[in-house]
Amino acid sequence: MGANVPQHIAVIMDGNGRWAKARGKARLSGHRAGTDALERILGYCSDAGVKYLTVYAFSTENWKRSKEEVSGLMKLLSAFVKGKEKMLVKNKVRFRVIGRRSDLSEKLQREIAGLEERTANFERQLIVALSYGGRAEIVDAAVKFAHVVGKGGLPADVHEAERLFASCLYAPDVPDPDLLIRTSGECRISNFLLWELAYTEFHFTDTLWPDFSREDFDRALESYAHRERRMGGRLETK
Ligand code: FPP
Repeated sequence: MGANVPQHIAVIMDGNGRWAKARGKARLSGHRAGTDALERILGYCSDAGVKYLTVYAFSTENWKRSKEEVSGLMKLLSAFVKGKEKMLVKNKVRFRVIGRRSDLSEKLQREIAGLEERTANFERQLIVALSYGGRAEIVDAAVKFAHVVGKGGLPADVHEAERLFASCLYAPDVPDPDLLIRTSGECRISNFLLWELAYTEFHFTDTLWPDFSREDFDRALESYAHRERRMGGRLETK
């Protein structure tokens, strides 16, 4: 692994709709091209030595999109889960989902659980945020925290309480993202990983997600490599 390579990259895969519109195609064909882009970036991550990739595939707000788009996206997700197992196993990638999975159809939940189980022993991870919202995750963690504290009591030390709270999040064993990439020129975090992005470096690009290339990826890594990460502390001075 090269120097200063992020261990964990999070991506807001934005611009699929605009990519399709520019080609006079339906929005869903943009999402299909976005799925191909996701498969490509998985390869770039493997080449660069990035261990975790978390992608925002469907937010808690995305349920408000047209029935046609929602059902098309669900079909794409199901096709990915069913059709990409070979590719994930070949590349030794663990597949995981974060989000309110009970919002998904029972069939999709079963397909996801099966793939998660069959890839559970791999070290590299693809984490797909599905029916995911950062606020929803914090609320779900608060509910879990209340149960734990109800049984075992509140830790006296505030840092201990913070660690206990963080252990109630969806994927507590995964380190926080080092780098967030958002495509398509939008500069917001849109309710993605609100807790986990506290000290993350952000990289925004105008490229639409389906066009995201190795050059875009290398640019993001290059810009990350030059950041000074203070993590809220003071830098050591000589
Ligand atoms: C945002 O673009 C993208 C989404 C809401 C969906 C992302 C989904 C995929 C890339 C494919 C499915 C993922 C997997 C894991 C198989 P937008 O539709 O908001 O684009 P716009 O802003 O240009 O309209």
